[in-house]
Amino acid sequence: MHRAQNLSMASLILFLFLSFTLFFTALAQQRYSNISLGSSLTPTTNSSWLSPSGLYAFGFYQQGSGYGIGVFIAGIPQKTVVWTANRDDPLVHGNATLLFAGDSGLVLEAQGQTNQVISTSESPYSASLFDSGNFVVYNSDRHIIWQSFDYPTDTLLSTQRLKANSQLFSANSQTDHSRGIFRLAMQADGNLVQYAVSTATVTTQDAYWATGTDGQGNNVTLNLDDDGHLYLLNFTGFNIIMNLTDGRYPTQKTIYIVRIDFDGIFRLYSYNLTQNGNWSVLWSSTNNKCAPKGLCGFNSYCVLNDQEPQCLCLPQFTHVVQNNWTAGCERNFFPESCKDDNGDIRIQELTNTVWEDNPYSVLFLSIKEDCERACLEDCDCVAAFFKDRQCKKQRLPLRYGKRDMGDSNSALIKVGKSISTTTDRVEPGKKKSDQLGRGILIASVSIVALGLVMLAISGILLYKSRAQPYKRINANENIVLFVS
Ligand SMILES: *[C@@H]1O[C@H](CO)[C@@H](O)[C@H](O)[C@H]1NC(C)=O
Ligand SMILES: *[C@@H]1O[C@H](CO)[C@@H](O)[C@H](O)[C@H]1NC(C)=O
Ligand SMILES: *[C@@H]1O[C@H](CO)[C@@H](O)[C@H](O)[C@H]1NC(C)=O
Ligand SMILES: *[C@@H]1O[C@H](CO)[C@@H](O)[C@H](O)[C@H]1NC(C)=O
Ligand SMILES: *[C@@H]1O[C@H](CO)[C@@H](O)[C@H](O)[C@H]1NC(C)=O
Ligand SMILES: *[C@@H]1O[C@H](CO)[C@@H](O)[C@H](O)[C@H]1NC(C)=O
Ligand SMILES: *[C@@H]1O[C@H](CO)[C@@H](O)[C@H](O)[C@H]1NC(C)=O
Ligand SMILES: *[C@@H]1O[C@H](CO)[C@@H](O)[C@H](O)[C@H]1NC(C)=O
Ligand SMILES: *[C@@H]1O[C@H](CO)[C@@H](O)[C@H](O)[C@H]1NC(C)=O
Repeated sequence: MHRAQNLSMASLILFLFLSFTLFFTALAQQRYSNISLGSSLTPTTNSSWLSPSGLYAFGFYQQGSGYGIGVFIAGIPQKTVVWTANRDDPLVHGNATLLFAGDSGLVLEAQGQTNQVISTSESPYSASLFDSGNFVVYNSDRHIIWQSFDYPTDTLLSTQRLKANSQLFSANSQTDHSRGIFRLAMQADGNLVQYAVSTATVTTQDAYWATGTDGQGNNVTLNLDDDGHLYLLNFTGFNIIMNLTDGRYPTQKTIYIVRIDFDGIFRLYSYNLTQNGNWSVLWSSTNNKCAPKGLCGFNSYCVLNDQEPQCLCLPQFTHVVQNNWTAGCERNFFPESCKDDNGDIRIQELTNTVWEDNPYSVLFLSIKEDCERACLEDCDCVAAFFKDRQCKKQRLPLRYGKRDMGDSNSALIKVGKSISTTTDRVEPGKKKSDQLGRGILIASVSIVALGLVMLAISGILLYKSRAQPYKRINANENIVLFVS
């Protein structure tokens, strides 16, 4: 019994060893170009090292008037950048040199200064760029001491995986590959989640997409195969936990990549190499371009116009920086008084809008007009959200706003009289309804007392239900923030 087991174990090891060596001799024959110590690149002449087939390149790529350093798909007309070194460093001038040096890895020499591009713990000996797009650095024993597949930026290539506790960060724009404002995190709890980056501490409210696979496996990884199969794998069990796509797309002459795009949406693309056409989208995390939180900055909200997103400011707010939506909006009026003493302050309503849920006070009121009044009477209140008889008073800034025709929430925004625009809501008979309003107010006060008790209870319930889907976020906050 025991012997038989040992025997099968031995043959298994032999088999593994054989397939291992076969795999590597196959690679040795054709699969990598050999970059030796002392090799160098400059942006204008000899600007990159190609993979054996010429599909991928490592080296300088042009960005605006300068150069970035990274891996890009060189064999197609749209030179697509898939990895960037030191993505937040300033661009490189045309007179710099990239040098593969003996003691420290890859360094950039420019204007008499030396910057580390790839640092290795051991002395490197050679490097290769594979046809998979992986740039690999070896020591003298030909052990891998560094590979670009371990440090993804915004893209995963076929056969590359996103490990537990790591994440992808979107780029700033289609052409600027420095770090943008969205991220995709493969959490230690097994959940794959997209977040707005902007905040220092992350909560469930910053998430805008998730697979909901927390608790379903250990060390779960996100994987992309060469047939476009995108899935979550249970690292210990080798079981598929979830298919994001079923794959089975053509493998010949077609490349697949997944990327968290600069607009915050996570997409699987394919490219037909025989056609020399365009990248086509095979799958995306959402079709709603307003879904990514943080696309519109503080005090603005996203509306779709022919499927294209647009950020609008709250009434009587203007964009902090023209044409920069993430910078958000600020007030352009300064009310003399915060209360509705002489009718200078009114409410303007934004129907069917949803926001971050962060009220400083919640009242239970049956009609919207009571909610408006409650906000007008309260100096701290700049806006109130009214839905399902709940009046949620808000302070600035308001975040993550977007129009959602399927949501009945109304944002009631306090505005001053000073600036009147044609779009302002008119409130006929406002003065006359004051007495009635006061009666309602008294009624409301007693309802409020009751409401506060209910709030305490529902608040706890609400928190619990919200905390469920991505509950281990807090535990992971600090783990992955420094991935470059
Ligand atoms: C790669 O280059 C190094 C140094 O020139 C050399 O020793 C090594 O044999 C080369 N490897 C292959 C597979 O060509
Ligand atoms: C480019 O690199 C090759 C091989 O390293 C070298 O022979 C050639 O002279 C270089 N060309 C220029 C313009 O530096
Ligand atoms: C390199 O280029 C930059 C900008 O074009 C310039 O400021 C710098 O003097 C140049 N350095 C050398 C050594 O030519
Ligand atoms: C994932 O692996 C863990 C540990 O091996 C196992 O308990 C769990 O059932 C696996 N989950 C799936 C979906 O395979
Ligand atoms: C997950 O991976 C880490 C690091 O590789 C390892 O220490 C840990 O034991 C793994 N956990 C499980 C349950 O396999
Ligand atoms: C996931 O996709 C793979 C490959 O297409 C397929 O074999 C497998 O049955 C799928 N699993 C599930 C759970 O759909
Ligand atoms: C790629 O384009 C060629 C030529 O148009 C076509 O024959 C082939 O079917 C296409 N492949 C895929 C995977 O669409
Ligand atoms: C590729 O896309 C561009 C812009 O969307 C379009 O103008 C062009 O016609 C497309 N080319 C092909 C071959 O589909
Ligand atoms: C837009 O504003 C944000 C926040 O102020 C800033 O981080 C970003 O660099 C700006 N983007 C552009 C293109 O100016």
